[in-house]
Amino acid sequence: MTEQSATLKIGDKSVDLAVKSGTIGPDVIDIGALYKNTASFTYDPGFTSTASCESKITYIDGDAGVLLHRGYPIEQLAEHGDFLEVCYLLLYGELPTAAQKKDFDYRVTHHTMVHEQMSRFFTGFRRDAHPMAVMCGCVGALSAFYHDSTDITDPHQRMVASLRMIAKMPTLAAMAYKYHVGQPFVYPKNDLDYSSNFLRMCFAVPCEEYVVNPVLSRAMDRIFILHADHEQNASTSTVRLAGSSGANPFACIAAGIACLWGPAHGGANEAALNMLTEIGTVDRIPEYIARAKDKNDPFRLMGFGHRVYKNYDPRAKIMQKTTHEVLGELGVKDDPLLEVAMELERIALTDEYFVEKKLYPNIDFYSGITLKALGFPTTMFTVLFALARTVGWIAQWNEMIEDPQQRIGRPRQLYIGEPQRDYLPVSKR
Ligand code: CMC
Repeated sequence: MTEQSATLKIGDKSVDLAVKSGTIGPDVIDIGALYKNTASFTYDPGFTSTASCESKITYIDGDAGVLLHRGYPIEQLAEHGDFLEVCYLLLYGELPTAAQKKDFDYRVTHHTMVHEQMSRFFTGFRRDAHPMAVMCGCVGALSAFYHDSTDITDPHQRMVASLRMIAKMPTLAAMAYKYHVGQPFVYPKNDLDYSSNFLRMCFAVPCEEYVVNPVLSRAMDRIFILHADHEQNASTSTVRLAGSSGANPFACIAAGIACLWGPAHGGANEAALNMLTEIGTVDRIPEYIARAKDKNDPFRLMGFGHRVYKNYDPRAKIMQKTTHEVLGELGVKDDPLLEVAMELERIALTDEYFVEKKLYPNIDFYSGITLKALGFPTTMFTVLFALARTVGWIAQWNEMIEDPQQRIGRPRQLYIGEPQRDYLPVSKR
């Protein structure tokens, strides 16, 4: 890292701050000693200008619309790789050799079953429970079952916990779905690949043979690749923050799932499809565009805009292609939702408001249509995002634990409440 410095003047005091450069991307100003030297904090709600860690995992250039995992462009990984290969890459830093891939696939596949007692957790939920509520509870509960992989100081236990989580998320997600629709749980099958196994656990029923459709299974796999990691987003930062206290990995991932649920984050795919359904027909689009632009209306075009991308989200382009592939395979012609989506995108990309604010479609804009066509209800969309993002969370969590600079995350604040005052007995208030 090259060393430059920045000078900050506060009143008559002036401090030199080191400027650090990464391999690519903006420099950062190291303010670690600012409080000690100036008795001031920095203020950055929403962390728009704050780097919280060093990381080697994922790089995003939001202006150029670039997303790299360990240096590899997302387009190449989605085109040529499979999800478990991307998992290996995120966890270990390099693409696997053929032998490493075979071994990794074997290890993940042989961790897919969950403890049989877990199934009783599901029956404790109301049958109309949102599957994300079920996931928050059940993933957190894994820490009650796998005591032999919760010692975070042991690299072997950390890796076992990582594999367990990647392997068991599809099983738990499928169980959440089955419980939601009132069908019996389907056990994993070891001769199927990761995504085919997941589709089977979701859509097989005991009364008939389930045949995997390779086009749909490949589409599912690509959707998982597109969601695998996205550097220091809200849920990943939540996982890191929870992990910084020394909490066990299952508890940390449960915290990430809870954060992902919000409509500004992972919940946007569900919200985007609900919005397209509400708009319904192309002729109603102008009304919704006008609402999105109206400052007094809280309505936003879901699936548009991104904190980091000020260009077309590269994942959205691949997702759009995947949508067409899935609809083509299923013989869905003239899907009204797709028609509304494409026209909405066309209008928004030329509308001055969206152009000026650099609001482009993000990954969630097209993923909902694809997932619906695959047979998932909207309530499952964020669960699928959580399933895929688990590897990103766990890779980032591992990186944090191994980082010698790691300390408990503890932001400061600008206090704007009452200064000290004396307690008054109730008779005097
Ligand atoms: N529709 C209409 N106006 C918008 C939208 C939108 N979708 N997104 C942002 N704006 C406007 C916003 O009103 C603001 O205008 P002004 O400067 O006049 O006040 C300006 O654009 C900047 O927006 P912001 O909310 O300050 O930007 P942010 O970086 O804090 O928020 C965002 C990013 C993704 C939360 C936001 O764009 C949004 O709410 N989008 C819709 C939800 C969505 O699709 N989320 C998925 C994100 S991608 C997947 C993931 O990361 O989980």
